[in-house]
Amino acid sequence: MADMKDRVLIVGATGFLGRRLVKASIALGHPTFALSRPDIVSDAEKVQILVGLKMQGAKLLQGSLDDHQSLVSALKQVDVVISALAGNHLRHAILEQLKLVEAIKEVGTIKRFLPSEFGFDVDRMEHAISPGDLIFVDKRVVRRAIEQAAIPYTYVSANCFNSYFLSGLAQIARFMPSTDHVFIYGSGDHKCIWVDEDDIAMYVLMTVNDPRTLNKTVYLRPPQNILSQKEVVAIWEGLIGKQLEKTFLSDQELLGMMDKFEVPHQMGVAHLYQIFCNGDLDFEVEGPDRVDSNDLYPGYKYVTAEEYLKRFV
Ligand SMILES: NC(=O)c1ccc[n+]([C@@H]2O[C@H](COP(=O)([O-])OP(=O)(O)OC[C@H]3O[C@@H](n4cnc5c(N)ncnc54)[C@H](OP(=O)(O)O)[C@@H]3O)[C@@H](O)[C@H]2O)c1
Repeated sequence: MADMKDRVLIVGATGFLGRRLVKASIALGHPTFALSRPDIVSDAEKVQILVGLKMQGAKLLQGSLDDHQSLVSALKQVDVVISALAGNHLRHAILEQLKLVEAIKEVGTIKRFLPSEFGFDVDRMEHAISPGDLIFVDKRVVRRAIEQAAIPYTYVSANCFNSYFLSGLAQIARFMPSTDHVFIYGSGDHKCIWVDEDDIAMYVLMTVNDPRTLNKTVYLRPPQNILSQKEVVAIWEGLIGKQLEKTFLSDQELLGMMDKFEVPHQMGVAHLYQIFCNGDLDFEVEGPDRVDSNDLYPGYKYVTAEEYLKRFV
């Protein structure tokens, strides 16, 4: 039989990452499906995103996390499931994935499930501070449910999305780089890993058929993008030909800014603390259950931090 690609279902397909996962899946030749839930009809923008995905070649499958039978019917039509549901302090959509886990277990034919992860490796973040820890706790609950159900999985630790971190040089609630001033956290020397979202989607799709990623955590680590905050600022300064004024914030000064923001941004401050003060992304990938994207896909041409920042010049 000719090379038949696995059929891929994206849950949360209208989301920021979800729509990119659909595009990457189609680009890699997978028959690609997006779960379309009934309540989406009242959201004009999401309907348009879904229609756009359909026009790119995705097939829409009707189903809802609140309707077990609809999920089972959808899952029977695919081989791989990727979830890009999101969670925050108000909507605990991450835990909604437990319903997906139940349905995947019942169907019993899903070859790989990738739960919504795509950030820190949550099993390394038991020490995380509040309120940034909320999402890690929920993602760990989902991991344990998957393992308990013996569902084949891949956990993708994507580190920092460029659009949320690199775009604003890791400033709080700012998503375009300043040409005047920047806060530097701690010494500014801890390494962070900055990844373009379209690349994240491509890496994710490359893992789904890869036996080396079965029941493993894959860390996305484009080598040229493993850079400290100071290094990233220096790249930006080189691009605009100007030095920024820099204010160095100690750990306590950064945490002291928490109260100035609403909870979603407080989560952001807590994550900045973990990355830049605690150095929680500054480690080598080791252990039998952990793999580095650069070992798996060394030839993949990713967007470098400099190429990304050039877009803002
Ligand atoms: N590392 C980083 O820098 C970083 C940055 C951002 C996000 N992330 C992670 O990436 C993942 C995806 O985040 P995102 O920003 O792409 O999320 P998003 O844009 O908010 O999209 C999430 C999607 O979840 C779906 N959803 C939410 N509640 C639902 C419910 N009750 N039932 C069914 N579907 C529901 C919606 O899709 P439908 O309307 O299509 O159903 C929504 O479009 C998350 O795990 C997040 O933590 C990481």
